[in-house]
Amino acid sequence: MKKLTQAYFAERRDHLAAEIGLRSIAIIATSPEVMRNNDADYKYRADSSFFYLTGFAEPEAVAVIETFDSEEEGYCYTLFCRERDRGMEIWNGYRAGLDGALNDYEADEAYAIDTLDEEIIAKLVNKDKVFYRIGHQEEFDTRVTQWLKQAEKNYRNAHIPAQIIQLNRIVNEMRLYKSSEEIELMQIASDISAQAHTRAMQTVEPGMMEYALEAELNYIFGKNGCVPSYNSIVGGGENACILHYVENNKELKDGDLVLIDAACEYEFYASDITRTFPVNGKFSEEQKALYNVVLKAQIAAIDQVRIGHSYQAPHHAAVKILVEGLLDLGIMKGKAEDIIKDESYRQFYMHGTGHWLGMDVHDVGAYTIDGKWRNYEDGMVVTVEPGLYIAPDDESVDLKWRGIGIRIEDDVVVTKKGPLILTKNVVKTIEDIEKLMAQS
Ligand code: GLY
Ligand code: MN
Ligand code: MN
Repeated sequence: MKKLTQAYFAERRDHLAAEIGLRSIAIIATSPEVMRNNDADYKYRADSSFFYLTGFAEPEAVAVIETFDSEEEGYCYTLFCRERDRGMEIWNGYRAGLDGALNDYEADEAYAIDTLDEEIIAKLVNKDKVFYRIGHQEEFDTRVTQWLKQAEKNYRNAHIPAQIIQLNRIVNEMRLYKSSEEIELMQIASDISAQAHTRAMQTVEPGMMEYALEAELNYIFGKNGCVPSYNSIVGGGENACILHYVENNKELKDGDLVLIDAACEYEFYASDITRTFPVNGKFSEEQKALYNVVLKAQIAAIDQVRIGHSYQAPHHAAVKILVEGLLDLGIMKGKAEDIIKDESYRQFYMHGTGHWLGMDVHDVGAYTIDGKWRNYEDGMVVTVEPGLYIAPDDESVDLKWRGIGIRIEDDVVVTKKGPLILTKNVVKTIEDIEKLMAQS
């Protein structure tokens, strides 16, 4: 099983320590556990940025990076975490404890999480700046402010930081550029997700429930030790026109398409795939016509994911082809340039063409710099996911098109050699889909 090593997490802390500069402290907490209903929690998933810096997946943990007066002093990495507790471990499972934090997670100092309020105050003394994720967890904002006040009280003649700085800016930029090791993990997540979509194409049949098809995906994710990286969308027929349809509780009908937007995360790295295919294995003429417009738009958009191109270049390429297709099929009337300018195509294509992808499915990283779309750089990963959605009650459109929803989504790495598609192991041309489904 491929995993990042501790040395890898240490390199990220080195980088962060260099970014925050001397006489600074960065404080980063993991996510709280979340209750689903009485006494039953959602399965725990550590905060992505916290895990990025620590490799530590337990709840109730805070990482602190401190720098001092000179570079020679290096930095101190402290991990606050749960202490070992035989009773609690019998009920809720293994804890690394303070020894684990020092020995297995390479912390320089480790303290019980219950002592955070006391221990952190001394660490604020003689620092110029505090970096933390302002606005990320409300409760934490209040705590940081209280720590600063308390430090001023406790250490009247000492220097206490006057500046609180948004840590997100630094960590999000670090996370935006993926290393080859991270891409390897994303490739594994993509391969497992592609396998799940392939299985869905092979197992679907008219009369099946959407949730039963979702179960086929979950089987592949679970068998490979993965969980979905977001709630799976399995929308038959007109349900495909509801962009965030997650009920997945209707019957899949002969003659309809089914849109599946589902993928898993592997070792904290996400994949994000959408495929749309016919429930009975054969596209109708209308479905074919619309599908080929979306596919052409998607291929053209992927080709724009190149170093130096604007973040929006794939969107512009996709919109142009979608609009031309809608005009060719008589679904829209008018001139392409007017439709693009006034954005009236949004009646049928109302979302963006992609987003950053990484540890979070909608990954961190700014999309603009100084108010302008940023350009693609080596190692960034973006989804490319154009679609067309003809609402079932859209009387402006001929009846034969209504209720068809199509999206095709792949994950693409920006590389020096051009776009690298991580999710190519699941078919997407009409010919390949029909061939695969005929064999099943
Ligand atoms: N699956 C979420 C998205 O495509 O944005
Ligand atoms: Mn997506
Ligand atoms: Mn998606």
